[in-house]
Amino acid sequence: MKIELITYRKGQARSVEYEYIPREAGERPMALDVLLQAQATKVSDLSFRYGCRNRTCGICTVDINGKPRIACRSRVRAGDKVSAVSALPVVRDMVSTRDGVARQLRGKLPISLRGNELNVEAPSDYHALTACIECYACLDHCPMHARNLDSDSDERDENGAYRWGSPFSLLKLQRIRLDPVATASDREQALSAAMDLGLEICRKCPGCKCGVGIDLKGKVIQPLLAADG
Ligand code: SF4
Ligand code: SF4
Ligand code: FES
Repeated sequence: MKIELITYRKGQARSVEYEYIPREAGERPMALDVLLQAQATKVSDLSFRYGCRNRTCGICTVDINGKPRIACRSRVRAGDKVSAVSALPVVRDMVSTRDGVARQLRGKLPISLRGNELNVEAPSDYHALTACIECYACLDHCPMHARNLDSDSDERDENGAYRWGSPFSLLKLQRIRLDPVATASDREQALSAAMDLGLEICRKCPGCKCGVGIDLKGKVIQPLLAADG
């Protein structure tokens, strides 16, 4: 089964055709299986990230035929193309820089959140948002995040964080708003951070898509827009 791998070195993208050797008859491997086998056989210096191999850590995301997919849980078929996610700058091969997003909420989150010692029950939407595995698949085609990659305005703050938000950052902020131990001030601070990251852009956007099926539009974007009035 031939799979096209896009390697990226020193600013140059190159197509490598890799012949996957099935481990059993009729196997449809995960994209990560292909990357691991390719590295063990033909492309020994192939770079990619993975951790849990169980759709939990979220760091193995790649593009399959141009769409972000979790490599350890996405099957590929002959002729598929695997490349680094297009929504973030590529460092090498399948590895992208994630720090601009990861650093984004530093200093913006309320500091008054404490442990839930009274076991106050959280609303079900709060639990739904804890399913986020930080795979960043939702950055794909998000017009707010796209502003970060606009070469005319590559805005990062002094910590290297992107200027504009993403479905992921808004999810984190909405989760604070639903946290049962958050104070009114915490909720206001989270909303204000969402607005600062560009929440207004969401008003004219059809919505975002989550790699693990979280209802981002219904449980994140609409409640934040409603709170913003
Ligand atoms: S609704 Fe907002 S966060 Fe979601 S894709 Fe659109 S601009 Fe991005
Ligand atoms: S919201 Fe969904 S797509 Fe976005 S980082 Fe979390 S799990 Fe991944
Ligand atoms: S390796 Fe952890 S989610 Fe894929």
